[in-house]
Amino acid sequence: MSEITVIGLGAMGSGIARALLEAGYDITVWNRTAAKAEPLVQAGATLAPDPAAAIGASPILLVCVDSFAVTREILSAAGVAQQLVGRTLLQASHGTPQEAREAERWAQEQGAAFLDVNLWAYPEQMGTPDARMIVAGAEDAYRRCEALLDALAGTVVYYGEQVEAASALDQAMTAFYYGAFVSSLHGARICEAAGIRTDRLADMMVQFMPLISETVKWVGDRVQADEYVGSLATLRTGAIGAETLLQQARDSGIDTSFPEFVTAFFQRGLDAGLGDQDAPAMIKVLRG
Ligand SMILES: NC(=O)c1ccc[n+]([C@@H]2O[C@H](COP(=O)([O-])OP(=O)(O)OC[C@H]3O[C@@H](n4cnc5c(N)ncnc54)[C@H](OP(=O)(O)O)[C@@H]3O)[C@@H](O)[C@H]2O)c1
Repeated sequence: MSEITVIGLGAMGSGIARALLEAGYDITVWNRTAAKAEPLVQAGATLAPDPAAAIGASPILLVCVDSFAVTREILSAAGVAQQLVGRTLLQASHGTPQEAREAERWAQEQGAAFLDVNLWAYPEQMGTPDARMIVAGAEDAYRRCEALLDALAGTVVYYGEQVEAASALDQAMTAFYYGAFVSSLHGARICEAAGIRTDRLADMMVQFMPLISETVKWVGDRVQADEYVGSLATLRTGAIGAETLLQQARDSGIDTSFPEFVTAFFQRGLDAGLGDQDAPAMIKVLRG
């Protein structure tokens, strides 16, 4: 009997399996394309011939494939689901909160405990302090897996038993990531147009990051309290800044899609009569 089975040995599944081996875990692995298991077998993993044997080999099962749908396809095959009785299933494939709820229900129907695991790391970072993960699901299952999750990531955020929370937080962080990515690129175009090195811009962005952190905290605190009367920055101030960003893009002939989005966004707040409130009052517009 192994301690943990890893199903799915793509880039991330292989990174997880490697990190578990390096942490001294006895693991069994399975992948649709068996050849991908070869380096792991050489490093000490046991290759199972099929998913049923893989699940039967360990009390804990971690699945890291393309999606929840692929996971269900693998685990629903004839003779496989029966193997799940009494096991703990860790879903490390990407999915939505709704899919996490359905997956938990399905796993429980098969007699298995379920945890949703959302990874914030590149495969080579697994097993290092730089790897981060968000986990949700039954607390007793989490406690059983806590040591191995800690072996995989330096930061493990366990949200609690509300299983859809991990995917919801993952999606919220993804929205934040995309916002930062798109705005970084727009900033790079501003600099290119002005003859400024973009690597210097990047250094400055990193240096100014504490201000961004404060802004993020400000938004979260205000929305949670649902109070928008303060002294930091009004929505009107935000709208004026956005107009300047748009004007600058037009003047220098660079792409205007990002500032147009931001200007239209704040305009909706002004149209709703929220100009004198703190900028996070925009949440009222987003709530519809
Ligand atoms: N890579 C990252 O940086 C990263 C970061 C965070 C989270 N993730 C998440 O990790 C998960 C895996 O990503 P990845 O980067 O490892 O992708 P990947 O390298 O493309 O691997 C995909 C895995 O899914 C398996 N698979 C796909 N369709 C299948 C099917 N119908 N039946 C059986 N197996 C199937 C593949 O098997 P074959 O080898 O046989 O094709 C492979 O093991 C995703 O949900 C992703 O969002 C990845």
